[in-house]
Amino acid sequence: MTAPDETLLSVRGLTVGFPNAQGPGHVVKSLEFDLTRGGALGIVGESGSGKSMTSLAIMGLLPKGAKRTGSIEFDGTELTDLSERAMRSFRGDRIAMIFQDPLSSLNPYYTVGTQIAEAYRSHRAGVTRRQARAVAIEAMERVHITDAARRVDHYPHQFSGGMRQRVMIAMTLSMEPELIIADEPTTALDVTVQAQILDLLAEIRAATGAGLILITHDLAVVSEVTDHLVVMKDGDLVEQGPAERIFTDPQQPYTRMLLDAVPRIDDEIAPLRTLQAAQEDR
Ligand SMILES: Nc1ncnc2c1ncn2[C@@H]1O[C@H](COP(=O)(O)OP(=O)(O)OP(=O)(O)O)[C@@H](O)[C@H]1O
Ligand SMILES: [Mg+2]
Repeated sequence: MTAPDETLLSVRGLTVGFPNAQGPGHVVKSLEFDLTRGGALGIVGESGSGKSMTSLAIMGLLPKGAKRTGSIEFDGTELTDLSERAMRSFRGDRIAMIFQDPLSSLNPYYTVGTQIAEAYRSHRAGVTRRQARAVAIEAMERVHITDAARRVDHYPHQFSGGMRQRVMIAMTLSMEPELIIADEPTTALDVTVQAQILDLLAEIRAATGAGLILITHDLAVVSEVTDHLVVMKDGDLVEQGPAERIFTDPQQPYTRMLLDAVPRIDDEIAPLRTLQAAQEDR
């Protein structure tokens, strides 16, 4: 058993730049935050504020030409010291990522079951195809895909957008990661389906004890799922703190502006959530 306040991820002085003739081209500047084991952290900010570069820096997946400095400590291991080979054993297995567009992460030519099973097998030596298929079906059931034993043999195009995101979450789940980084996981979905996927992420976090970093430009999205918020603008850390405090008492005008842009959470989302059951059945 782990202590409740154990730090899972500690980011210190994280800077990402694309050096060019004009200078270091910093897009993330001296970012600092901690995530406790099983905690949920939201990173919010407008487009271009450096949210994705932060998550890619943690995953060791920055694009060519990017330069990363600072410290990223995950469960006692300094990730920035790891070789690409060593990092690969963390990715997917201990730290998993969910992207905005599940279609781009799924191969159209293989059934979803094959893709979940093969991803699982690539991280678990000695697992048979048959065992991995059972893992895939179980993971699909855990993300509430009904009739999983049949749908495991379907192709990505046979699923709706929300269901495809469930498939991606199932793939992530099967690996039992300690940290899930979700970069705009609901941006491509309509609002009722968004709410379902957020509920699912919260449910999974509670059930598995995995830590969650939820990245979004939409403050309404993080409000229900995360307990700590990091606000970014142009690569800078604007402010951070308990989500509750940021929502009720933002210290920075930029945060206030983001909050003002939140469309009527109570009037709009709440009633829509009650419609959920009727939707997203495909
Ligand atoms: N390959 C690259 N070369 C140079 N600059 C880049 C490159 N990739 C991203 N950037 C810049 O890095 C900055 C941060 O980008 P990032 O993708 O992290 O933003 P974001 O907060 O995730 O935005 P969004 O909400 O649109 O996803 C942007 O100004 C972007 O133009
Ligand atoms: Mg992004």
